[in-house]
Order: sequence, then structure tokens, then C-alpha cells
Amino acid sequence: MEVGSNISIRNTFHIPAKARTLITYGREDVEELVTYLQHEGCGQKVLHVGAGSNLLFMGDYDGIVLCSDIREINTCGELVRVGAAWVVDDLIAWTLRNGLYGLENLSLIPGTVGAAAVQNIGAYGSEAAEFICEVETLELQTGCIRIWKPEELEYGYRKSVFKKPDMWGRYAVLSVTFRLSRTFVPKLGYGGLRNRVGTDNPTAEQVRQAVIDIRREKLPDPEVLGNAGSFFVNPVVKKEKADALKSQYPEMPSYDVENGVKIPAGWMIEQCGWKGRSLGPAAVHDRQALVLVNKGGATGEDIAHLSDAVCKAVWDKFGVEIRPEVNFI
Ligand code: EPU
Repeated sequence: MEVGSNISIRNTFHIPAKARTLITYGREDVEELVTYLQHEGCGQKVLHVGAGSNLLFMGDYDGIVLCSDIREINTCGELVRVGAAWVVDDLIAWTLRNGLYGLENLSLIPGTVGAAAVQNIGAYGSEAAEFICEVETLELQTGCIRIWKPEELEYGYRKSVFKKPDMWGRYAVLSVTFRLSRTFVPKLGYGGLRNRVGTDNPTAEQVRQAVIDIRREKLPDPEVLGNAGSFFVNPVVKKEKADALKSQYPEMPSYDVENGVKIPAGWMIEQCGWKGRSLGPAAVHDRQALVLVNKGGATGEDIAHLSDAVCKAVWDKFGVEIRPEVNFI
């Protein structure tokens, strides 16, 4: 276990933020970590970070930041148990090399496996929850290790049991078990993907490459331009509201979902004229309006100001509330 004081916290927005204490731990450190939190760390707030790809720091973190270094990987038939510190895209490349399929459409999503299980990452018609059959957690206060089954994980669109307010900071994900398949069945239904791969019978590698190409075209590379992927979640509105909007904006894209109609926030933001616009050093990305970027030197406040302005514009024009997906820390 590595414990450091006053350490910079990595985040893909490239916003400078330091942790009072930063602890990196492996599986062998779990007991020591719990003892530390019960004694030296007692009473301090705790934040668990993965790759920092869904966080917006509003200042330094006056508490303990935890970072997993659990990198094990084991397979048993079509099950793959993966340590929380694995980078999702590295895992997907690994599964394809090992003839295990299912995760291709999630290629190039930034972040770690632990965060993917908390956030239920999704893209191009797939969601992590479809493949997760177990999540192993450590309860930080007690040291209890628990295995969560899908029916306990309360997965929904960008939602899980771990995102409930009373669960924040309580558990650390140690590993995630995915149920994959030895048979590859392409999932090309999501707009644009079938055209991009150019065949109805692609290989898994072709689908992965098509997803990577589409993402590279639309989404800014966080190495080059600070961002946290989609900044907002797509709102789900009642059917009546969607019908009213459709009659006013017949070209509006929308998707029927279980509890209503999902409207792409990126489309609404673009209609409000915010796509590509800046507010100080923060900007709405010019190729995907759902993404806010740090043009250089932005603070958390700068991004938050832009976020407020964009939400207000969408509310004023469409009467729809959009909310950040990114966690403000
Ligand atoms: N659109 C616009 N203008 C924009 C952006 C989008 O008109 O600036 C329209 C598109 O033309 C399309 C619709 O909105 O008709 C949906 O756009 P897109 O396919 O780009 O997807 P999204 O709903 O904007 C979601 C995810 C992304 C994921 C894509 C592809 C959320 C919050 N975001 O975006 O996830 O890559 O679908 O599946 O659900 C992320 O979470 O970080 C992320 C990038």
C-alpha cells in the first residue's frame, strides 16, 4: 500500500486538484487499508477514484482519495473476473485476443473496470450491466467483503446501487465478473454502426475498430483536450412531453425507453446554439455538444459556469431539465 500526502489527483478534465492523502492499494493491502481507515483515517471523508474520467474537481480534496491497483484477471469458461484497476479498453482488447465476445461496442470508453461497474457505462447499444454477473466489494468501514448479484445491483441507464446517495464512499469495488460469450454475435443496431462496419457479418475486431473510429471522430481525446466524455445524461421525459416537442421539432431524435422517451441532450444543446461555444476557458465541444472541454487552464468553477448556462438554455428553449452525469467533487 502506498500512502502519500498532498498528491495531485489524476483527472481527464486536467483540472489541478490535490488530495490531502492519496492511497494506492492492491488486493494484498486490503486489511491494512481498512485498519488505516479505522485509525489514522477515522473521521475523514473518503473518495474512491478510478481513471478520473467522470469527475469534476471544484478544489482540492481535504480527505482520503483511494485508488485501486488490483490488476488480476482469471477466466472460467465464459466468465472473466477482472481486478477493478483494469482499464476498460485494455480489458476489451484482452477479451477479443482470448476469443471472448460481448464488450466490443464499449471500446475506447475511458475509465477503469471498477468505475464501469458503478457507473454502468454504455455506448453503441450496449451497457456494462448486460455482462456483469458479480461485483466484489470491500466495505471500507468494516472490512467486509461482499459479492453482489445482478438483481442487487439495481442497474439502469448510468445507474447502479452504488450511486445512491447513502452508498457514496461506503464500498470499494475489488473485482468485477463478466459473463461473455465464445460465439461472436455482432450488435450493429445503433445508428451508424452497421454502415461503418460495411457488412452484416463483421468480425469482433471490425466492430471494435468501427466503434473506435466513430468515437475518435466525435469525441475529444482527453490526452489532448481535457474532458470527461458526456457531461450530461440524456433526459427521459414523459411521452406527452415528447409528443409535444416532436410536433414543434419534427426532426428531433428520440428513443422510447421503459419509463418514457429519451431525448439526446446533445441535440438540444446544439439547437440552443451552444455547440462549439466557449465561456472563458471552458467550451462545448464542436463535434459532440454533450461534451464540455477544458481549452486550457479551466477551473472546476469555469466548467460549472458553462454547465449552468447550458442547462438554463435547454430549460428555457425546451422546458426539459438536463443534469450533469459527471460528479462534482
Ligand atoms: N446529436 C446532435 N448534436 C450533437 C450531439 C448529438 O444533434 O452535438 C444527436 C445525434 O445526431 C443523434 C443523437 O443526438 O441523433 C444521439 O447522439 P450520439 O449517438 O452521439 O449519442 P449521445 O446520446 O449524444 C450517448 C452516450 C455516449 C455514447 C453515445 C453512443 C450518454 C450520456 N452518452 O451519447 O457516452 O458514446 O451515446 O452510444 O448516454 C459517455 O458516457 O461519456 C459517452 C460518450
